[in-house]
Formats: sequence, structure tokens, C-alpha cells
Amino acid sequence: MLVKSIENFVQVNPEALVVSLFENEKSHIEFVNEHVVDNKVFEGKFNTFYNLTTLAQFSVPHILVAGCGKRSEFNENKARRIIAEAVKKLAGMKIKKAVFDMDFGFDYGKIGVIAAHIGDYSFDKYKNIKKDRVEEVYLTGVNSENVGLGELIAQAMDFTRNLANEPASVTTPQKLADIAASLEGIQTRIFEENEIREMKMNAYLAVAQGSVNSPKFIHMKYVPENPKKRIAIIGKGLCFDSGGLDLKPAASMLNMKDDMSGAACVLGIMSVINKLHPDVEVHGIIAACENMPSGKSYKPGDILTAMNGKTIEVDNTDAEGRLTLADALCYASNLGVDEVIDIATLTGACMVAFGAVCAGILGNDDEMVEKVKNAAFEAGEKFWVLPTFEEYKYGLKSEFADMRNTGGRSGGASSAGLFLKEFVKNVKWTHIDIAGTAYLDSPMDEFVKGATGSGVRALINYIMQ
Ligand code: BES
Ligand code: MN
Ligand code: ZN
Repeated sequence: MLVKSIENFVQVNPEALVVSLFENEKSHIEFVNEHVVDNKVFEGKFNTFYNLTTLAQFSVPHILVAGCGKRSEFNENKARRIIAEAVKKLAGMKIKKAVFDMDFGFDYGKIGVIAAHIGDYSFDKYKNIKKDRVEEVYLTGVNSENVGLGELIAQAMDFTRNLANEPASVTTPQKLADIAASLEGIQTRIFEENEIREMKMNAYLAVAQGSVNSPKFIHMKYVPENPKKRIAIIGKGLCFDSGGLDLKPAASMLNMKDDMSGAACVLGIMSVINKLHPDVEVHGIIAACENMPSGKSYKPGDILTAMNGKTIEVDNTDAEGRLTLADALCYASNLGVDEVIDIATLTGACMVAFGAVCAGILGNDDEMVEKVKNAAFEAGEKFWVLPTFEEYKYGLKSEFADMRNTGGRSGGASSAGLFLKEFVKNVKWTHIDIAGTAYLDSPMDEFVKGATGSGVRALINYIMQ
């Protein structure tokens, strides 16, 4: 879909014009007042629409009046919702070209593009009958620079969603490595299994060993001229999580192609970072592998030694993400960056606590955690801080090793975070658990079923600040 800013709708001769209508207000389009507002046929309640067919009385065949609710309650999140829903309505009307002329009272250039792409999104590449799509969307009265920024963010989201929606047989560790290596303006190094072994990433290797697809450790780097800061973002890259020998039941395994959503988020961000060109050095790190049951799998009771020398007793082979992240965090701690962020579909416990509504966040620096959380809210995503009381570590005690990889299910999001903390050294660190938010089992608000691109907007906003 093409989204551009224009001065006036007559320039492009659209099939539909979308206009906002707030409750108890008149429209800025007189024709709408005459036919809709004055006759009280449509009140403008939030997220309601009225399709006004103009019968050649107006220069555009359709005016889609978008109810925006009370102006005093309106904000950027509602703007995003309404534009995305309007795009879906337009697609349903089989309209190919539309102009948005919204009287929001703030610049909706950035939010408008992002919303249009979210409304247009459908993972239909494997379907013979494709979704109807709006091909051209124009926004009036917006700052074109903000439209450009929104376009890059939307591209990153689409990139991430497409990757996470692909079946696991497509997005193998090798495929993620190939994608990373193909990104423009990014220096990428792929570490093969023997090199991973040389780096002593034995926790990560243990997870990977049950699969016929070998692990790929991916390190991407974006280096601007004079970076004012250096950040590493690590994405959990479990291309498939069967649970391993502690096999998941069918219903829990069903969506586990999405267990590389963190990696997909990192790849999405790295795919546009060169064009966003922040003056921040950004490292993208993925310990890609599959967690599979086989004769070669790692076993409950195994004791693994991570890159930093700490030993881990395997309590449950399904708590694999933290094992791969442990080594990735050791690696990132050695890079000499100022900050490390990991983003991971880490725990069912986080999903149970927060649902698909918000992601969990914690770290070793309250100020950084707060900043990442605020960056998320500003960008239209919700993160909520998880507690990090020492008591959450009790369950991780082991008789035979420095720690166990799980403390059971209760308090699982926090204890998983505290497990990760053991592998972070001398660097500010924030962990984001997107187990609930990365993938929707059924549509929610402007998002369709499947991958949501969780973390993309938040982390781009954080990096760009
Ligand atoms: N990938 C899962 C977490 C997950 C669950 C993501 C649901 C998305 C939706 C993770 O590897 C996992 O299996 N965690 C276990 C840990 C447990 C064994 C301590 C869990 O949450 O059940
Ligand atoms: Mn698992
Ligand atoms: Zn997992």
C-alpha cells in the first residue's frame, strides 16, 4: 500500500474521502453537515462509521464519516484505531484509492501511515484468494516528514509480522541468518555451530542440539559516524519451540512458530535502521535455533555451563528461551555497549498475567526500565513493570549447579527475568517479555489474528530519542 501526504484531495481524484466527526460537533465539510450532521443521522460515537454516497452531488463518490467520539477524550491511540478501522472499511467497499482529511487538531502524519498499514495488514501470501486492499492512501493536512518516519516504522512492523507469521519450516535459523546478512547498511556476522562452541555458549548449544537444523548466532551492527550511545538489542530466536523432551501439549505447541518474535522484532528494526539513521550504534543479536525432541536432545537433569562459566541444571527443557538468552546476554555484555535490551516470548506466566494487552518489563536499572516503558506508551504500545524481588529467585536454587532453569510456573515471568540477570555484567539492561503480545489467537482492536510486531514501535522510539 502506498501512503503519501497531499495538500488537497482534489489533486488525486479519489473514490472515497474519509473525514472525522466528533460528537456534538459540525464537520469541516459542509456537504457532511447538510446530509449527516444537521439531520442527526450519525452522532460520531467513537469507532462508528457512516458511508455517505454522494450521488454526483460532490466531487468524490463516497464520503466515509469516521466517528471519533468526544474531542476531549481523543488521543493518538484513538487516531490510530480509527484510521486503521477506516482502511478496513474502505477495503470492504472495494475502494482502491482514498484520501483522509481528518480534523484531529494534531499532526497525524506519523500515526496515520502506521495506522493505514496496520489496517491493511493481512498475511495472505499462501491464500489463493487474497484480501481486498486499498492501494493508495493520501493524508491531507499532515507534516510530510512525519509521514516519512511513519512509513519506515510501518515497514519495520510489516517486516516483523510477516517473518513471525511464516511457518517454522520457512523461518529456520539459516533463513534468519540469510535475512540478517542481506540487510542494507548493516554489518552482519553469522557464527556457525563450531564457532558457537568455541565461544563456549553451551547453554544455547544444548537447546539447539535436538534439531536437525543447526543453530546460527547472528550479530548485526549499525554504526553511525559519531554515535552518542551504543545499544545492543537481543531477540529470542526460537524458530520453533516444541518444548523439547518436556514436550508441549498440542494446544500449547500450536503457535510456537512465533517463538522467534523477539528475533523478528530485532530484524524488523535492523531492516530500517539505516534509513532512520539515529546517531546511536545499534547491535542486533539473535541466538537462533529450534527446540526439538530427538535422540540428540538435551535432557532434564543435564548440567550446562554458560559462556560466563555459570552452571545451570536443566529442570525443564521447555524453559529453553532463557538458556539461549543467557549466552546471548554474556556475549552482549562483552561488547562494551552502554545498554542491552532483550525482547522475548519468554513465559506463559507473563501471558497469563497480562494477556495480549501489555508486555512485561524488568531490568537492572530502574531509570532505563522506566524510559523504555515510556517510549513504548508514546509509540502506542503498553509495557508493564514486573516485580524483581529476591524471593522470585528461591525456586531457581539447585543442589547440583549454580541455578536451575525454572522455578516452576508461579511467578514465572519475574523468576525468568531474574534468571537472565545472572548473565548480564557491567551494563544497563532491560528485559521485555512479549509472550502475550507478540501473537494474537483472535483479532484485537486494529490487529488481525497472528503476529502483531510487538516491540517494534517501542524500541524504534526508544532508539530514536
Ligand atoms: N516460548 C515459551 C513461552 C510462551 C508461552 C510464549 C506461550 C508464547 C506463548 C517458553 O519457552 C516456555 O515454554 N516457557 C515455559 C516455562 C516453564 C517451563 C517454566 C512456560 O511458560 O510454560
Ligand atoms: Mn519453551
Ligand atoms: Zn520458548
